[in-house]
Amino acid sequence: MTLAQTEISVPQLERYAALIYRRAGIRISAQKTALLSNRLRRRMRKTSIENFDDYYDLLSRLPENDPEWDLFLQEITTHETYLFRDEVQWDWLRQTYLPQIARDAAQGLRPATLRVWSAACSTGDEAMTIASCIVATLPGISSWKVEILGTDIGIGAVEQASQVTFNERAMQFVPADYRQRFFRKLPEASVWQAKPQIASLATFRQHNLMDLLRVLPFDLVFLKNVLIYFDRDSKRTVLENVRKLLKPGAMLVAGGSEGVSELLRDFKQPSPWLFQAPDKK
Ligand SMILES: C[S@@+](CC[C@H](N)C(=O)[O-])C[C@H]1O[C@@H](n2cnc3c(N)ncnc32)[C@H](O)[C@@H]1O
Repeated sequence: MTLAQTEISVPQLERYAALIYRRAGIRISAQKTALLSNRLRRRMRKTSIENFDDYYDLLSRLPENDPEWDLFLQEITTHETYLFRDEVQWDWLRQTYLPQIARDAAQGLRPATLRVWSAACSTGDEAMTIASCIVATLPGISSWKVEILGTDIGIGAVEQASQVTFNERAMQFVPADYRQRFFRKLPEASVWQAKPQIASLATFRQHNLMDLLRVLPFDLVFLKNVLIYFDRDSKRTVLENVRKLLKPGAMLVAGGSEGVSELLRDFKQPSPWLFQAPDKK
């Protein structure tokens, strides 16, 4: 198939941007013409549609649960991620948070259970980083019940996350001892697979952060490098949904430039990227 038009026009971009905003909360700026055109063209090739208006019309007519929506959202979102991204946060997790909850559990101040949410987990790199840090550093790990949930709007990202395999680039910041202890290199490619010891702690499912996730609340939530694509209104919606899933006193780890401080004024903020939910709701 050859596409007659290689780049979307400004009015077409505006129509797609409104559609994407309504569906995923993501703001596409007018400067993203080339990026959006490339991403749309990939989907159009797969559906044998030759022009941007026809693909837009198709999407507009489809029910919200049509699989094409998942494939479209997977294509237009940015999935960049890697293990041990933002070292300072993993230092905090290993040196401060995990020892503290272990002390609290030993004193009977909390149960030996830990529920963690990697919200917008992309291909699972963040979830496996969390799992490896917990297994390596949570004192008395064998007596803890640990559950990590990874969610993402991208169906392809979630499918890949479930395979817990990572390429060399994704693995480059994994400390050597973690690499050896928690991952094995698959013979057929330069791909590393998480061992069951950490992989078994995590489950993955598709979820749009604009909707409320119906699960039990969490002790710790990672919400990183996703709200940068959202405007203030959709950030507020996401944070309202996330708040409902934080236990009293739970910690929220955000990206460095997520712009959430003013929407979390009632939280403590021990560092620019770290928030603690109020003790009582
Ligand atoms: C850049 S990745 C960040 C991955 C990981 N949190 C990290 O920091 O490395 C952003 C992810 O957010 C997901 N995403 C975008 N909009 C979303 C939404 N409305 N709901 C859930 N996930 C979304 C994308 O599919 C993408 O995988």
